[in-house]
Amino acid sequence: MNITVVGTGYVGLVTGACFAEMGNTVTCVDVDSTKIAALEEGIIPIYEPGLEAIVQENQKAGRLRFTHSLEEAMEESALYFIAVGTPPGEDGSADLSHVLDVAAEIGRNLSQDAIVVNKSTVPVGTAAKVQAVITEQLNARGVAFGFDVVSNPEFLKEGAAVEDFMRPDRIIIGVESERARQVMADLYHTFSRNHDKLMFMGVRDAELTKYAANAMLATKISFMNEMANLAERMGVDIENVRKGIGSDSRIGYSFIYPGCGYGGSCFPKDVKALMRMGEEYDFETRILRAVEDRNQAQKHRLFEKLTERFGNDLSGRVIGVWGLAFKPGTDDMREASSIPLINQLTAAGAVVRAYDPVAMEEAPNHFAAELFEQGRIILCDHQYDALADADAMVLVTEWKPFRQPDFNAMKKLLKQPVIIDGRNQYDPYSLKVQGFDYSGIGRDF
Ligand code: UGA
Repeated sequence: MNITVVGTGYVGLVTGACFAEMGNTVTCVDVDSTKIAALEEGIIPIYEPGLEAIVQENQKAGRLRFTHSLEEAMEESALYFIAVGTPPGEDGSADLSHVLDVAAEIGRNLSQDAIVVNKSTVPVGTAAKVQAVITEQLNARGVAFGFDVVSNPEFLKEGAAVEDFMRPDRIIIGVESERARQVMADLYHTFSRNHDKLMFMGVRDAELTKYAANAMLATKISFMNEMANLAERMGVDIENVRKGIGSDSRIGYSFIYPGCGYGGSCFPKDVKALMRMGEEYDFETRILRAVEDRNQAQKHRLFEKLTERFGNDLSGRVIGVWGLAFKPGTDDMREASSIPLINQLTAAGAVVRAYDPVAMEEAPNHFAAELFEQGRIILCDHQYDALADADAMVLVTEWKPFRQPDFNAMKKLLKQPVIIDGRNQYDPYSLKVQGFDYSGIGRDF
């Protein structure tokens, strides 16, 4: 098939590259000419395992190309994916301006019957808005073409996006016509070979499914963080509780790891956007409010644990931080728990020595420049350098090289043997025996 994907962010690029990998001809479009120039050279703007290789291979094979002209791309295909950003507006609602700009441009250039697919995470009712914007442009031009707007939300996880696209749990497709249903079935059939993963539903149903999935996962995490904080006060080990409840197949083991709060470009944004949608329908989303509230508070837990040990004034203290990205496998620091932690630490007078295996270049974009200039945040070349003369080590992101570190070396480097484990990666009993003052999330006894 001949496909156009608009937006070369993480969803658009993975979608385009994976469709090309399956033999389709794909043109990826972006308004950012610098990004397009880099992509034409096979340089991808994000860290995503496996993506660069399939982009380059499919470019070489002539199945994947990049352009900044949607008009030009549209001449060759009748299947358009909209995968542009929907950043949160000031009130938390999703900003649809990029999506609707693309819809208008599609309307200005449409010259045949077509299918327009919303891949971006968009509020319920957006497909109808896209439909209206395109129709308005067609009417202005005095032309009429048959087109359908389909909702096909994405369920990729950063760091595993290619794998998730190639082997999805399910493929949600919201359609309103038999023609669109057939085109989407043909396109996705190859990703659904083992068993039927295609789920057809109405477009509004599909739009809400995306938000409900992310909100449910965020709810599991916030619930578990609440249990962990309670367990700490009770002298209970949350790890035992986690295993105990996860073994119930109705609950399951996934997304019940307590930690220092969820981050990234999806959960925080989507929970807030769903709350806003509730308001629009005059409905109070009480559970979502609590999920969001717990997450905000959870992002302060690591700082609280440090002040419980060292007092509120951290002047003269050095804190070693392992992990800056919002989770392992990505350089993405959007809404990362490391950001409020480091800002609180520096505001309380501490010097932060930080290390992350891939987010070091990204880090300066997320803190005030003077914190680096004044030496209040020092980015270190190695994980152990971050611990030199530090009063405590804080684990924020559970990258693999942090999971089984050399505790002897750590003890020698640290001024005080304090480990604050924001992801429950270490064994508290063994660390206590080795002389560490250890505190995990829901394991502080
Ligand atoms: C999430 C969803 O998992 C994807 O299905 C979805 O497609 C994507 O959002 C999206 O909407 O685009 P992602 O944001 O890449 O994917 O990251 P996750 O792996 O879901 O992790 C999100 C956050 O939750 C991370 O900060 C992680 O550390 C935290 N988390 C996750 C926990 O604190 N505990 C857990 O048990 C699991």
